[in-house]
Amino acid sequence: MNDLLSLSHVTKVYRQGGLLGRRHITAVRDVSLTLGEEPEILSIVGESGSGKSTIAAMILGQTAPTEGRLEFRGRPVAVHGRAERRAFMREVQPVLQNPFEAFNPLKRVDRYLFETAKSFAPDGKRPSRAEVERMADVALSHIGLSLAEVKGRFPHELSGGQLQRTAIARALIPQPRLLVADEPVSMVDASLRMAIVNLFSQLKNELGLSIIYITHDLATAYYISDRIIIMKKGEIVEEGKARAVLDNPQHPYSQALKDAVLSTTPEIPKSSVM
Ligand SMILES: Nc1ncnc2c1ncn2[C@@H]1O[C@H](COP(=O)(O)OP(=O)(O)O)[C@@H](O)[C@H]1O
Ligand SMILES: [Mg+2]
Repeated sequence: MNDLLSLSHVTKVYRQGGLLGRRHITAVRDVSLTLGEEPEILSIVGESGSGKSTIAAMILGQTAPTEGRLEFRGRPVAVHGRAERRAFMREVQPVLQNPFEAFNPLKRVDRYLFETAKSFAPDGKRPSRAEVERMADVALSHIGLSLAEVKGRFPHELSGGQLQRTAIARALIPQPRLLVADEPVSMVDASLRMAIVNLFSQLKNELGLSIIYITHDLATAYYISDRIIIMKKGEIVEEGKARAVLDNPQHPYSQALKDAVLSTTPEIPKSSVM
């Protein structure tokens, strides 16, 4: 049986600058990881600049690796071609990071749901208005909202939590197998974060979804993830069952991340980072 997702020896180098002063940045270096067919929440944790979003973009096929291979169900992650991208995105969907940026303030939020529903109707045909609304309502019901609650509303008319839930619901419309959520709660009030990430556990259990949860918030990662990967400067420094890694980190950097959280200082103390 194929893995759901596999990355083998994936490296991403960004080239910046013009003829003078060209710079190469290795954002991700030799990363290998797999997700099996069993639904799972995998957290990728690391400080800003450690390469998390670059990994997310490669898994989503938004950018190609410089070296290495990414496969979804044994096939290369689709980067090119409209039809291939569409078929791929039916199964692998992003959760938009910051709903206040992702949603245009002048556009009603239901439009995003309807557009996604039109793009990913189950039979590939143009769905009726009623069918589009039904798809949106079903997706919203999975995250504890209904179409009646968001219909016709502009982003500012919803709370941060409602808006982030709507972003998750949008990602559910194509009935994907894998969600990639890059810092989905970083802009949400701390008091609401746990409630939103708990939805991920619920979606895993009820819909059989796997979720890649990218965060620098160790607390939420601890509670919801099955497995955790700690990244530093583009490389995986530690990987394992979430509880094992966070209860007893082996790598000094993982320990430093944990200490930083426990001491509630927002910065990771430089002295404790290798
Ligand atoms: N499009 C890009 N062009 C050039 N450099 C980039 C680009 N995207 C990210 N980087 C660089 O790659 C590194 C990793 O960035 P990123 O993947 O966004 O990390 P994270 O999400 O963990 O903060 C950083 O040094 C960042 O500045
Ligand atoms: Mg990022």
